[in-house]
Amino acid sequence: MKIISASFVKGAVNAAQFPATGIPEFAFFGRSNAGKSSLINMLLNRKNLVKTGSKPGMTREINFFAVNTPNGAASSGSGNGFFIADLPGYGYAQVSGVMRDRIDKMLYEYCRHRDVLRTLFFLMDIRRKPTEVERNSLEFFHSCGIKTQLVATKADKVGKNDQRKQLTAWADFFQCNKDEIIPTSSSKKLGRDKLLTCIVSQLSS
Ligand code: GTP
Ligand code: MG
Repeated sequence: MKIISASFVKGAVNAAQFPATGIPEFAFFGRSNAGKSSLINMLLNRKNLVKTGSKPGMTREINFFAVNTPNGAASSGSGNGFFIADLPGYGYAQVSGVMRDRIDKMLYEYCRHRDVLRTLFFLMDIRRKPTEVERNSLEFFHSCGIKTQLVATKADKVGKNDQRKQLTAWADFFQCNKDEIIPTSSSKKLGRDKLLTCIVSQLSS
């Protein structure tokens, strides 16, 4: 699939602000600094569509992007359009308690009520070891009936051997097949085809 257009639609801080679209949506979720915004830029072939940062906690609202929809309009006649939601990261200690509660509530509402959501891409830095936080989050998504796809980010930061070792350890932890995890690197443009294939396969369903 070619990315013909991609544009920022809006940032939302509560469910009332989520755009009414009626077309498939794909969400990107993960710890602060995992590389969500960078991966969206890589996927959409845009350098700076989504703001990224070396400081964790850059994204504190849900940012919606329209892809391949005429003029960025919410509804697409071609059946080739979709939305992307860049979700705020978790695990950033310097985000205040009040802000954290607000973000958690917003994520909860998003997961519970976003009918157009087709797949939630669950991103983790390939160098990290998954914890109960990740396990519980995945369980919550599944309890909401959300399909998830594990994505390992920043694969360029480790050699091939360590990459394999990490994916094997993750597969063991999450009780899945290691080949089900998509390794990616935004800087090396690795994994883009697999992500796009996953999206395309769900556009007409
Ligand atoms: P929050 O919005 O804070 O939740 O962060 P995020 O998950 O959106 O991460 P972001 O894309 O802003 O990236 C965080 C940092 O990691 C930035 O300094 C990026 O340049 C860096 N980074 C992201 N992806 C990659 C990658 O594939 N390889 C390398 N080497 N660095 C990356
Ligand atoms: Mg971000």
